[in-house]
Amino acid sequence: MQKLTLTRPDDWHLHLRDGAALKAVLPHTVHQFARAIIMPNLKPPVRSVADAAAYRDRILAAIPAGQRFEPLMTLYLTDNTSPEDILAAKASEFVKAVKYYPAGATTNSDLGVTDIRKCDRVFEAMQQVDIPLLLHGEVTDPEVDTFDREKVFIEQHLAPLKSRFPKLRVVLEHITTSDAVQFVLANDTIAATITPQHLLFNRNSLFKGGIRPHFYCLPILKREEHRQALLQAATSGNPKFFLGTDSAPHTRSSKETSCGCAGCYSALHAMALYAEAFESVDALEKLEAFASFHGPDFYQLPRNTDQITLTKTTWRIPDEVPFPESGLVPLGAGQELTWQMARY
Ligand code: NCD
Ligand code: ZN
Repeated sequence: MQKLTLTRPDDWHLHLRDGAALKAVLPHTVHQFARAIIMPNLKPPVRSVADAAAYRDRILAAIPAGQRFEPLMTLYLTDNTSPEDILAAKASEFVKAVKYYPAGATTNSDLGVTDIRKCDRVFEAMQQVDIPLLLHGEVTDPEVDTFDREKVFIEQHLAPLKSRFPKLRVVLEHITTSDAVQFVLANDTIAATITPQHLLFNRNSLFKGGIRPHFYCLPILKREEHRQALLQAATSGNPKFFLGTDSAPHTRSSKETSCGCAGCYSALHAMALYAEAFESVDALEKLEAFASFHGPDFYQLPRNTDQITLTKTTWRIPDEVPFPESGLVPLGAGQELTWQMARY
């Protein structure tokens, strides 16, 4: 196959940041995707509908002239989020979901939830008005091994949450384990996003010939058997699994340091990365539904009607793209890809 034409996809988990960083990365997303679920972990986080409206305006203002893109906003859940905030979100029409970060789990999560049970009144309201809950599904207990934090979250927090709120629609974000795949498959109202890094790389990539900070994201890359389980889920055609890049830009200097930030930058070449992953298991024909149908169906939004085309061309992922301060290193920098989006 030399050309791959798909219904235009959407990115159901994206970090755009703000200010000059937002301006630097947004064109990459807009080139490929019509819409994206925008993560609220700014400093300070997007906690209210008013915060989300202001952030949405800044995103709209940063869209390159003549292009179209719809940011789908989320609220950052804290111990102080109220049921009234949920009703306001539902009434807003542009807030599409609420994001749960366990306090301290990842980048800019200090104001996240300290105990998930504290949010039961909020979850009740979300279940009632049918707003999806997006989960960063990792425990933060320092006693729990980093590589087990997703599995333990599912057992200790997600399974009980599902029993308390059986109708609450949940997206387990950026799943990384076969345990997560099994849990999603077994529970009606749960879906999951899958990133390109977790489809293409296992944890060996973190240590190949030395420590490789640009493969460090959270949840961390896992063993090969888990990568295989994710590939199987993504290419299964099951509508519970859909595209969410978790593209999370950090400056080169904040990653190449003694205590580097978590996050992989994939917005530059996301569709080429996913095409590579799907082709590796001979499942390119399943890419369109994963990238363009399952997400809007879950969010009860119309599917896009225009198309994108990727061509079979070998090209090298650049070592760096322009970004404020010290530049931005894309996922897999220096490696070759065999699919490419039409040029800018
Ligand atoms: C994200 C970021 O940098 O905002 N980092 C990451 O490793 N995925 C936060 C998150 O989604 O965990
Ligand atoms: Zn994320």
